[in-house]
Amino acid sequence: MAPKNLKHISGTKSLANLEYNAKIYEKYLSHLNLSHPSKILNIGCVSFSELFEVLLPRLPQEYDEFVVCDASEKVVDWAKKNYSQERVKFIHMDIEDSEGISPDMKSRFDHLFSSYTLGVLSDLKQTLKNAHDLMTPDGDLLFLFAKYDPAFCTYQEMAKNPKWFPYLKKYSNYSSTVEKEIGTKEKVIKWFEHLRLKCVVVSIDDNVSCQYTKEDLIEIANFLDVAEYDIPESDLACYKAEYHRQFLITEAVSQHVENGEDTWKLKLPTVTVVAKK
Ligand SMILES: C[S@@+](CC[C@H](N)C(=O)[O-])C[C@H]1O[C@@H](n2cnc3c(N)ncnc32)[C@H](O)[C@@H]1O
Repeated sequence: MAPKNLKHISGTKSLANLEYNAKIYEKYLSHLNLSHPSKILNIGCVSFSELFEVLLPRLPQEYDEFVVCDASEKVVDWAKKNYSQERVKFIHMDIEDSEGISPDMKSRFDHLFSSYTLGVLSDLKQTLKNAHDLMTPDGDLLFLFAKYDPAFCTYQEMAKNPKWFPYLKKYSNYSSTVEKEIGTKEKVIKWFEHLRLKCVVVSIDDNVSCQYTKEDLIEIANFLDVAEYDIPESDLACYKAEYHRQFLITEAVSQHVENGEDTWKLKLPTVTVVAKK
């Protein structure tokens, strides 16, 4: 499997609005069959605050196994070092892997969770196929994901500049797979059902947003930037300056003053899906 261009930004701010995630779990966890000790998989970590402060405390604590996977080896190594005391196992796994799921992982998990990871992936079909294969025959999942990735909106603007066009061309027509393919309830249901996952809940909330300081928002922007790997070293500083400038003025971002502090808001229109095999 080819290594992914993913960075190590462990300890970063969560992309998620943690209060929103908490509300979603409180509203929908009862739709999962959580009544007996079970094996759980969380897909995509990085910030860990969502995992340890929001999801885990709301789950029954008598689980048999809690596994967290991420496609970034650096993130996984960092997590293993920093959360060694936790009753959670961190593994390196690419949920989009076209070679599918390894035999020891097949039909292993009763519950899958994922927060704001689907929206940064490109192969939704393979992702859902792999998710299906990871689940036990009566397994279920709760996924939360953003309808679009603001880094890609930034590339669309930057690609209008001939200097960046050659590097960003491949992203410039991008309207996130998620938004295009599963931006409406009907499409979500069709996608999941096509992969033999029956939707129990599909909720789309266009009013979700998250507040950051400017520094935190730039940290998030840096994490989301996958195009930087295509930029020649000699142009990288210039590209980054332009990327930050443009990110802060994308449609998804707005700035205001709250309690005398400069605050930056990022829109995170969010899809929540609870589905069963
Ligand atoms: C935006 S972060 C999710 C943040 C976290 N769940 C939260 O709510 O704050 C996306 C995470 O997905 C991981 N990721 C990206 N592509 C992946 C893939 N194909 N398989 C598994 N993890 C992936 C990234 O390394 C990153 O840690």
